[in-house]
Amino acid sequence: MDLIVTHTGADFDALASLVAARKLYPSARIAFLGTQEENIKQFLRDFGTRLKITGSRGIEREKIKRLIVVETSSVSRLGPFKNFFQDTALEIHIYDHHPPEKDIPAKKFVYKEVGATTTILTDILRRKKIKLTSLEATLFILGIYEDTGSLSFPSTTLSDRKAIRFLIRQGANLGLVTKYLSFPLNHDQVTILKDLVHSLETHYFHGLRVYIAKAASPKYVGDIAVLAHSLREMENLDAIFILVKMEDRIQLVARSQTRALDVGKVTRILGGGGHTTAASASIKEKNLDKARMKLISAVQSSIKIGKPKSGTIQPKKERPVLSLMKKRLPFELLKFFRTLGLLGDEVHMRIFLVGGFVRDLLLGVKDLDIDLVIEGDGILFAHKLSRIMGGKLHVHKKFKTAVVSVPNFKIDIATARTEYYERPGALPTVIPQSSIRADLSRRDFTINALAIQLNRRHFGHLIDYYGGERDLRQGKIRVLHNFSFIEDPTRIFRAVRFSERYNFSISPETRDLIKRAVRLELFESLSPERVRQELVAILNEENPIKAIKRMAELNELAYIHPSIKYGRHLHNLLIRLSSEIKSHRRCFSSDLLALWLIYFMAITHNLTMAELGEVLQKFIFSKKERSKLFRSHKAVSRLFKVLQKASISPARIYTLLHPLSLEEIIFLLARTKSKFAKKNINIYFKKLRYVRVDTTGHDLIKRGLKPGPHFSKILQKLLLDKLNSHPRKSLRNL
Ligand code: CTP
Repeated sequence: MDLIVTHTGADFDALASLVAARKLYPSARIAFLGTQEENIKQFLRDFGTRLKITGSRGIEREKIKRLIVVETSSVSRLGPFKNFFQDTALEIHIYDHHPPEKDIPAKKFVYKEVGATTTILTDILRRKKIKLTSLEATLFILGIYEDTGSLSFPSTTLSDRKAIRFLIRQGANLGLVTKYLSFPLNHDQVTILKDLVHSLETHYFHGLRVYIAKAASPKYVGDIAVLAHSLREMENLDAIFILVKMEDRIQLVARSQTRALDVGKVTRILGGGGHTTAASASIKEKNLDKARMKLISAVQSSIKIGKPKSGTIQPKKERPVLSLMKKRLPFELLKFFRTLGLLGDEVHMRIFLVGGFVRDLLLGVKDLDIDLVIEGDGILFAHKLSRIMGGKLHVHKKFKTAVVSVPNFKIDIATARTEYYERPGALPTVIPQSSIRADLSRRDFTINALAIQLNRRHFGHLIDYYGGERDLRQGKIRVLHNFSFIEDPTRIFRAVRFSERYNFSISPETRDLIKRAVRLELFESLSPERVRQELVAILNEENPIKAIKRMAELNELAYIHPSIKYGRHLHNLLIRLSSEIKSHRRCFSSDLLALWLIYFMAITHNLTMAELGEVLQKFIFSKKERSKLFRSHKAVSRLFKVLQKASISPARIYTLLHPLSLEEIIFLLARTKSKFAKKNINIYFKKLRYVRVDTTGHDLIKRGLKPGPHFSKILQKLLLDKLNSHPRKSLRNL
């Protein structure tokens, strides 16, 4: 039997590719692994049976002889089928438009750099003259439109456009296409969405989980119902209410997934109307808090009282990891941690090690960045610590953080903000949530949301509310909740960085959330400085090529510039670059290199000068960095022309290369294929750059010369003469 599969959390491109692939393998069965997207679920409710799309249950592995994988080449994304790949007898065919990942042993691999996998398959079907039904053509357009932003994304190619033209001719129903397609939010909607996310409150009404969120917009913004939809899609909840203040009114949009809460009834109490599951109201009120209170009491009086559902608060998890700490940490450091704990006891504050340090401790990776979270007053704690340890103290009052530098250690200290969490069942009862929990709940990934308590009685207790330890064991990058990337889009880059650093996979749900966040174009509202920091961090990792590829796959490179394409050319350049960097570091270990800058040169090298200008304008680079990037772009061809001559003099090599930074020269090395150019650059690295003249300005004065600008010319001439006095043969043999 032939089986066709795609990744978990399918989008329209994945769904369309499944159906298109079955046209090529007509006897194959499709195994659909589910989706989070509401519009796809709706499409399947409407047409799933007609298209014979079934789930993955009841498939007997022994019967499968051939597996056709579409829209991914990553084993980790194939849910229950990922184990099938150990079976070497299984024949695997892959169709994908993402740069290939090598972890699938495929017999056939069809990869094309186009906007959607559906485009690749449509093209094959067209060439094979295989007829399509109108419904199939419609679904295929949805697939291509979704992944190319209705042909507007920079990744769109001529083939995508051609495929659309062909599908329209095959009788696609464009009315249906618009019905199911979700369009990205505009800038104003994204701004409101972010405020909504930040203000989200969870309420429990007789066990129903209800979200209330509020935001204010200085101007009128249309179609805010789509925001309620976006929020509801991202979390599994019973109902959501959003209150948006615009002009002199407050707009309320409500969505419910349960008959127990009729949102139409709620909005009618507030002067609006609607159905059980979707309703809205325009409330004559200027104060958002007052509107919120009115809403809460309207919900209370509309709810059907049934048996309360149990709440979903995660159980608190604690586990001693002291023996691991003893094994992996230097004795001095452990002793220091005990001191911190005792000091915490003295001032009645709970003290925790958090974030990267805990993650790396559990992984067995050395990490000297110590981050502490204090339940209490972090600044007071920092003052006490610096007093007893005699260290330097820097305080940021506004953020309630401090840095203490004591001999051998630098410690970042933060104060856990106290937060309140509304308890299941009753309202408006409010119970305080422990601050460390609130602090951890705001972090990026489960593996970074771990803490170790240092107070004496709990010394060495690992706090893990979100399954971070399990994810470390399984090698997974997973967000804590579905709003994580909306809250902080830099995490889109961080996910890639951690996954490549530790060779972890990004969990399928998290990948889908990234894609969704990229589609919402959240980057545009980010400060370029923060994105720059994240990019620098990624490119400074030990081996950033996979990370760059992964960023391309997740469409993140478009944020640097939409014209950047990750194709074979860039891939090969990066490989050469990485090997040049390695060999340079082996030979000249004392050279300090800004690695990220060299990789950044490569990523941007195919841009036009004007485009590079846009990049430099968008991100904040130092003057030096800017000029290095510009020069590496501009001067290359002229330099190569001269450098590739065998007969070029040492002085000439020196004058060409000396004004350049090491980063630029290494970039040149990776770009040139000329043997002589490489040789000449090597001569410069090994010899010429160290040549100095013994004569100084003082010597010239002693000889009776009058000081002036001509001195530097004379000294330069002396240097060049000395360079040229090197016998060429000795240089050639370097
Ligand atoms: N963090 C976060 N969201 C971000 C940045 C940071 O939640 N956008 C949290 C994470 O819990 C992280 C901690 O802040 O562990 C510290 O951040 P940072 O120092 O940037 O990262 P580390 O995890 O320490 O990683 P690295 O080893 O690269 O320093």
